[in-house]
Amino acid sequence: MATTSPTDNLKPVDELNYFELLAWLGIGSSHPGGFPATLKNLSTMDIKAEDLLLDAGCGSGLTACYLAKTKGCRVIGVDINPQMIEKARLRAEHENITHLVDFKVADVYDLPFPDNHFDWVLGESITVFLDKVKVYQEFLRVLKPEGHLADLEMALLQELPSQIRSQMEECYGKGTDPLPFQKWVDVLAEAGFVDVEVKNPQALQNTNSNLIVNALKHDWLLLKDLVPKVTNQPQIYRRLQNNANFMKRYKSYFGFGLLYAKKPVPPEPPPKPSLIKSFTSLLKKLGSSAYPFRYSKQSQ
Ligand SMILES: C[S@@+](CC[C@H](N)C(=O)[O-])C[C@H]1O[C@@H](n2cnc3c(N)ncnc32)[C@H](O)[C@@H]1O
Repeated sequence: MATTSPTDNLKPVDELNYFELLAWLGIGSSHPGGFPATLKNLSTMDIKAEDLLLDAGCGSGLTACYLAKTKGCRVIGVDINPQMIEKARLRAEHENITHLVDFKVADVYDLPFPDNHFDWVLGESITVFLDKVKVYQEFLRVLKPEGHLADLEMALLQELPSQIRSQMEECYGKGTDPLPFQKWVDVLAEAGFVDVEVKNPQALQNTNSNLIVNALKHDWLLLKDLVPKVTNQPQIYRRLQNNANFMKRYKSYFGFGLLYAKKPVPPEPPPKPSLIKSFTSLLKKLGSSAYPFRYSKQSQ
């Protein structure tokens, strides 16, 4: 029988913001291109079993659990929404993968991890909603030198008229701000990343929505109590329909791609002036004591 979390029905659907709505649904792939796009992106990444990954804004943990299961690597997922984390943990238990994945409530602006900690930072539809340079600088901090960022985000294919932007913010929240691909690249470089590129760029109108829907049909966490939820709060249809209609109507403005970049190796720090001074005086001393020795050798 479906289990319902104690936090599942905190508010009526109409009062939930976009993230709360996603958390309430427990949907596993709420990013452009859905889980098929995740699979396509992962196939371009050389993730090894010994790698440590951070899934930043992990939602209900579908990608994190999939990665741990298929690659055997350790994954930490963080999300600011406690309901998402509760569901991600439930998913990990259901998939018997708790020995490899760990989920924490945390803010991506201030991650509870030391510097140079992760081999990979993954994101899927997270920085589009946030202050991009600040978040990328935080990702850079927790990545090891030569570690990679792989962030699937929405992009703008043409300028967005202000009235469409307002509608977008109504659907997805104030501050939602997809950038043109080139601007995403610039922002990553500004944050300090190198080797920045966009992998798998795609127009939204070329995505196969059947593939996305089919993947959703395998999302256990989404499906397990969807019927009672929809029965109790039928307004959910209108909320989801609004968002779907927006994207359908304006899809020519949007695309998405994998923003891929590397943390540079830090340059060697210049020697301290005091060290240079004592080294120079050491050389002088060595020079004066070596001179007679060289002289006596030459004179032999
Ligand atoms: C569109 S959802 C994507 C979730 C997941 N990555 C996926 O693809 O299904 C965005 C997620 O980012 C989380 N989020 C938003 N702001 C955050 C922040 N400052 N720190 C951590 N997570 C955040 C939300 O709670 C939400 O789960």
